[in-house]
Amino acid sequence: MLRVIATIFVIIIQQLVNANNYYNNATLQKYGKNVCTIEEVFYDGNNDLPTMYREHGLTLDNRQKQTCGHITLSRNECCEGFKQLKGLPGCTIVKSPNNMLETIKLLGANEFARYAMQCGLFDILEIGGPYTLFVPTDEAFAKMDKSLKLALVSRKLTTSELIKYHVVPYRLITHNMTSNTLLETLNDGLHLRFNKHFNQVETINCVKLIRKNRIAKNGVVHLINTVLNPHIYSNRNLVQIINQNTELTIFSKMIETSRMHQSLKETFQTYTVLAPIDNVLRKLPNNQLSRILDDEKLSKEFILKHLLPTTICLSAITEGQIIKTLGDDHSIKFNCDALNSATTQGYCIKSDLKLTFNGILYAVNFDLSNYNEGKTVLQIMNDMGLTEFLQIVNIAGLAQTFDTKNMLTVFAPSNQAIKSIDSTELYCIKTDSGYAKTFVEYHIAKEVVTPKNIYDNKIVETFIPGQYLRLQCVQNTFGVEGQLLNLQHKVGFNGIVHLTNQVLMPSTISVHDIISKNNSFSIFMRAVNLLDILPATSPEFCGNHNTYFIPTNNAFKKLGIDRLIWIFNNPLYMRTILHNHQVERVLSTKLLKKHWQYEIQTKNKTIILSHRGNKLMVNNVEVIEADLMTTNGIVHVVDDLILPQY
Ligand SMILES: *[C@@H]1O[C@H](CO)[C@@H](O)[C@H](O)[C@H]1NC(C)=O
Ligand SMILES: *[C@@H]1O[C@H](CO)[C@@H](O)[C@H](O)[C@H]1NC(C)=O
Ligand SMILES: *[C@@H]1O[C@H](CO)[C@@H](O)[C@H](O)[C@H]1NC(C)=O
Ligand SMILES: *[C@@H]1O[C@H](CO)[C@@H](O)[C@H](O)[C@H]1NC(C)=O
Repeated sequence: MLRVIATIFVIIIQQLVNANNYYNNATLQKYGKNVCTIEEVFYDGNNDLPTMYREHGLTLDNRQKQTCGHITLSRNECCEGFKQLKGLPGCTIVKSPNNMLETIKLLGANEFARYAMQCGLFDILEIGGPYTLFVPTDEAFAKMDKSLKLALVSRKLTTSELIKYHVVPYRLITHNMTSNTLLETLNDGLHLRFNKHFNQVETINCVKLIRKNRIAKNGVVHLINTVLNPHIYSNRNLVQIINQNTELTIFSKMIETSRMHQSLKETFQTYTVLAPIDNVLRKLPNNQLSRILDDEKLSKEFILKHLLPTTICLSAITEGQIIKTLGDDHSIKFNCDALNSATTQGYCIKSDLKLTFNGILYAVNFDLSNYNEGKTVLQIMNDMGLTEFLQIVNIAGLAQTFDTKNMLTVFAPSNQAIKSIDSTELYCIKTDSGYAKTFVEYHIAKEVVTPKNIYDNKIVETFIPGQYLRLQCVQNTFGVEGQLLNLQHKVGFNGIVHLTNQVLMPSTISVHDIISKNNSFSIFMRAVNLLDILPATSPEFCGNHNTYFIPTNNAFKKLGIDRLIWIFNNPLYMRTILHNHQVERVLSTKLLKKHWQYEIQTKNKTIILSHRGNKLMVNNVEVIEADLMTTNGIVHVVDDLILPQY
């Protein structure tokens, strides 16, 4: 059976007018003012206790969902401090407030009340004030942290200090607080960190507020589900706390090498640091770790990947969430499930977080094998399992190059790609080191090509002098020589590896070769020759970034003989037709997405490229043969003319 416990969020509807799409204007109208939604998360328990489900106030809208794999029910009731006036929407009666002690007891937090009275905080609870109390539930006291219990038993921490850490000497209502506010408590100089998270969850020292803003005569009470540990917070900065931690010595050394201490000490910026513990970092290959530890830039890149520019409290995670780190194009996935309250990259985070005045520190033990800082391109290709290509690299005697040369880009063919090379060709590659060398060198560019610096029609020189590769970019899809570039590129310290699904071979034929050597294109050839009579108007078969939709003779014949003769007598119109078949960029069908349509500017009108089934269509014309790569562009054959009047 289900047993309730646990977590109740209080969400105030009025605050959600803009923020939350569960409630639209109509719902608000129906519910009126001061209606709060309570979400109750039900945890599986062994006891056959009935599900506790109380109906309060205006329970008009039940919605069931999951929070971290647990059933969650939500209902609406009057916000704390309000009552409904019968017959009117919303909750418009302001209840007469109780004092804090009464308020706490009404919330069922008897343990806190007992401890507070024991330590002589009678004033605070009954008459003094105003104060703000963060009151742990009785359950929270029952499941108090071992280290906290130990501190109490060993008198390192007195009950009075513990309780005073839950008291702020002024009145604080959560909607009047901003995230990352540090609150001074009655426990001498020690602070609490208040946070608001994107999903409306609010935390104090990363502990979730489960009922909030109970207004009492002499202050405000917020209910929390964990006893706050004064030792979790330190007035020091992140660097000092990392340096103190005996499990984080390597990470600490990296901070030193990266010269990032200054920014990690700043007071105006709040970070979450996920610092891998020494045991994990020691698992990195030896030369990789030492390379990182010796290099300012590499350490910095590594550290930035573990630095989040926001405050992340694990208790506030209620669903999968991907958060960008400060590392280049890098993000970390947080999630939670029924077993683990929170995970990062699928790993549980050790829960000993530390709160510092400029952020939060978690010691983490997740897998770092995907971290390529300090790895050479050769190591990366090894990691990627590109055994076929690496075999050829060895035959070519180029392994050294990949390990020592800097700033290179490898367009590395997958194993499958190499296996599908023509067998005699492959035989030559694998038996002739000179041949192998040319093959490999054609796949390496002399500069670093990343999705950030790629643009359509960019060319890069390969390791073969004078041989270039043409790059393409259609929307966010990238290609090289018309082949799709897998986005799974990996960056190492001396370059980048892009995976390709096909090997690259230099084109040996030109567009002109294709047309002139095939009788199916003789009419097109005649049209081109006709226009050559008018020098300024001939389609230029030069440059190397063109797409040609070449019509077959059949396509011309479909016009009928009269029309065909007319066109041949009207060179200007013929020119327009030919221009309509030419695009000044390389459009490979491999870079086009099946369900999208692409508006493309030809040398005359705009055309639309789309797919009908597996066929590529240009406007309504079917491409019957696609992607013939040539020295000066790419050719697609069409069986109809793409007429400009379209
Ligand atoms: C809700 O709708 C009413 C009329 O339908 C409009 O006057 C009012 O401004 C809306 N309120 C909000 C908060 O959008
Ligand atoms: C506190 O928040 C309420 C509601 O958002 C607002 O009306 C009020 O002015 C705020 N008070 C202060 C002191 O900021
Ligand atoms: C000529 O082009 C047609 C149409 O694209 C094609 O089917 C045929 O195979 C080509 N012939 C030769 C010899 O390349
Ligand atoms: C397309 O061709 C027509 C007819 O020759 C011409 O009037 C028009 O200017 C051309 N448009 C472009 C963009 O070249």
